[in-house]
Amino acid sequence: MAILKMANTIITFLSVFVLCISAAEGRKTLNAINGEVDDGICKSIVETQGYKCEEHKVTTDDGYILSLQRMPARRSGANADKPPVLLQHGIFSDASTWLFNSPEESLAFILADNGYDVWLANTRGTKYSSEHTSLNPNDKAYWDWSWDQLSAYDLSASVNYVYKNTGQKLHYAGHSLGTLIALAAFSQHKVLDSLRSAALLSPIAHLNQIPSQPTKIAADIFIANVVYWLGIREFDPIGQDAANVLDKICHLPGVNCSNLMTVFTGPNCCVNSSRTDFSMEPTSTKNLIHLSQMIRTGKIAMYDYGDQQQNMAHYGRASPPLYDMTSIPNDFPLFLSYGGKDTLSDVIDVQVLLDDLKDHERDKLVAAFVEEYAHIDFVRGVNARQVVYEPMMAFFKLN
Ligand SMILES: *[C@@H]1O[C@H](CO)[C@@H](O)[C@H](O)[C@H]1NC(C)=O
Ligand SMILES: *[C@@H]1O[C@H](CO)[C@@H](O)[C@H](O)[C@H]1NC(C)=O
Repeated sequence: MAILKMANTIITFLSVFVLCISAAEGRKTLNAINGEVDDGICKSIVETQGYKCEEHKVTTDDGYILSLQRMPARRSGANADKPPVLLQHGIFSDASTWLFNSPEESLAFILADNGYDVWLANTRGTKYSSEHTSLNPNDKAYWDWSWDQLSAYDLSASVNYVYKNTGQKLHYAGHSLGTLIALAAFSQHKVLDSLRSAALLSPIAHLNQIPSQPTKIAADIFIANVVYWLGIREFDPIGQDAANVLDKICHLPGVNCSNLMTVFTGPNCCVNSSRTDFSMEPTSTKNLIHLSQMIRTGKIAMYDYGDQQQNMAHYGRASPPLYDMTSIPNDFPLFLSYGGKDTLSDVIDVQVLLDDLKDHERDKLVAAFVEEYAHIDFVRGVNARQVVYEPMMAFFKLN
């Protein structure tokens, strides 16, 4: 038993490293091919497809300078004639996640071609949102945040910026952690006044039924104990030490390094396996600790400092305050899409969330179940247009 647990822990370690390292390699290759290292998302992956694109910046109330990209027109050049939509990526990614496949397959392009005014958010710490008014990513203090702050600061900064810039209420679409930060804000009745509706793909709220054993063990051992203990505040293991560890573990008997995305996110039916050039972005270790607290407790609470005094200092109470999903206003239009094979946004946990929302007005809540989808299919599935995005746009039209 103990040995099995240990083996799982090692695999978990390894998985996270491999994911990050292979992604970093992919990014380097892509950049080398394009000869474009720091041109930004507009120049490197939107304009190259023949779409207009604007780079914007917004500063959060706690000083993080975030980039946003806007696609204000169809590929034909005709200006958007539908409301703005803000797309919010999940953990370990950035706005490029919405642009990854061909324009016929990727949500950002599809929305633009359907006449929406598309805005892409990038949360703090990602490649194009790494500036701060006084800190830089080499400072430990730069990484002193979890998704509490993504919800309280980044989300509201991006939403308010789009609202002010366009003078219109917007639709919101988030994937994975991009759903949790929205649900948390909605439960506190924040940002709702600027939104028409929200689409939540692979919704993350309750996390204690996660079926992926390695992820669970990561929550118990790896994240909280090892990384924090090492004093690592930025979780970006793209480095020689990480590569060495990885190389050793990959050669252990019984360890298969070729299937890691499946280990973590479920068997994605529909991602294009000939496309491996996706990038992965760092996050804060504190964010991972926060998520691991949720996996252990099943509670949707603010970050737990782990001792009553510190919680007292931050929250004025001994335990962290809860985000109450039943407080989300019943008339706020919500479109949820979740997959039968998703090991992060697993069916049982989503059902707990849907139960929280059971008093929601019937015509304001759509829960679209996609039997064959796992976590990454929602953003990179080659058939996501038919399976998820068309129904989502139909929902937007009604709201
Ligand atoms: C590792 O997994 C891949 C993909 O699932 C499979 O094709 C390969 O045969 C496996 N290798 C070993 C040594 O089990
Ligand atoms: C998969 O990606 C390759 C390489 O980008 C592309 O040529 C192919 O058309 C894609 N397949 C599908 C079904 O999108």
